[in-house]
Amino acid sequence: MPDTEKEERLVGPARRDEDDEYDLSLRPRTFSEYIGQERLKEKLSIFVQAACNRREPLDHVLLYGPPGLGKTTLANILANEMGVQLRATSGPAIERQGDLVAILTNLNHGDVLFVDEIHRLNRAIEEVLYPAMEDFAVDIVLGKGPGARSLRLELPRFTLIGATTRAGMLTSPLRDRFGVIERLEFYTTEELALIVERSARVMGVRIDPGGVNEIAGRARGTPRIANRLLRRVRDYAEVRGDGRISRELAREALQLYDIDENGLDRTDRRILLTIMNKFDGGPVGVETLAAATAEEVGTIEDVYEPYLMQLGLIQRTPRGRVLTDLGYRYFGITPPGDIGQGRLFASGEDQDV
Ligand SMILES: Nc1ncnc2c1ncn2[C@@H]1O[C@H](COP(=O)(O)OP(=O)(O)OP(=O)(O)O)[C@@H](O)[C@H]1O
Ligand SMILES: [Mg+2]
Repeated sequence: MPDTEKEERLVGPARRDEDDEYDLSLRPRTFSEYIGQERLKEKLSIFVQAACNRREPLDHVLLYGPPGLGKTTLANILANEMGVQLRATSGPAIERQGDLVAILTNLNHGDVLFVDEIHRLNRAIEEVLYPAMEDFAVDIVLGKGPGARSLRLELPRFTLIGATTRAGMLTSPLRDRFGVIERLEFYTTEELALIVERSARVMGVRIDPGGVNEIAGRARGTPRIANRLLRRVRDYAEVRGDGRISRELAREALQLYDIDENGLDRTDRRILLTIMNKFDGGPVGVETLAAATAEEVGTIEDVYEPYLMQLGLIQRTPRGRVLTDLGYRYFGITPPGDIGQGRLFASGEDQDV
């Protein structure tokens, strides 16, 4: 395991242990507790109400977007608001067709089957889903060779909710079978502030409005990261202060944890500086970039790149990733071939690349 994996990561991919433990207590249970994603929430609550009025299960729903934005949370809320059970599984967890058939035949009428990382379902298993989603039936083959017979099993009517960070990796026959396909967006700082406030309340943490804003502003549009930063700043407050999180204390803590004012951590900065210094600003292919930064391709694509693009610091082109003019200025460097306009962000100090 490389050293970077051992260091505490506030930005990186979900850490199943701690995140899960807190997810259980911090996760909103109803639409009214779910902050932000207003248009999506409005649409989904209309679909839920209409389905309830018709006494029908909800149509199949595909939720996609970067990690930590609330896909799993929404799936749970949908089941809760429909008043049905949710059975959760994930693409990589289903290894054989029989596993999926067993799950499907055990559902009750109206239940939600939640399939996380649905882009990682293997093709043979996907084929079981097609008739299940469309006709609420599965075809099972009995016996082998010339004597084999196919038997159609009726299923209860259910709702499939799929979640993925990579909608582009879904096959089109699978995508086409979802009646509702929705993308989750990054949250605004104001929405994240509400989330931090709510989480602090649930965790019993004392926090000033200044502390809330400091954390919200560095949470890179992502509730999971907002909650993680809150936990780590709470640690700092308990050890270095009296437990209360003020703006000043949050600043000190986040500086110690190397999270800059825009929420970038050392890995983000390493990615940007690698493109700048090793590849002359790009374009550089993501595999090459991953090798040069000792990161995984999937982590760069899912976790780091979407936010760096959102900030306008890098761009994806057909030939690879390029650093934008803004990306240069982030480090106080005049972009090549540009009359510099000075620094837009004050965060170029103390670089370790
Ligand atoms: N709209 C929201 N309001 C309040 N808290 C939220 C909201 N969305 C997410 N959270 C919090 O963020 C955490 C992460 O959300 P969730 O696990 O649903 O993300 P996800 O999109 O499924 O991520 P992944 O792609 O990694 O599976 C949850 O524990 C929840 O506490
Ligand atoms: Mg999830």
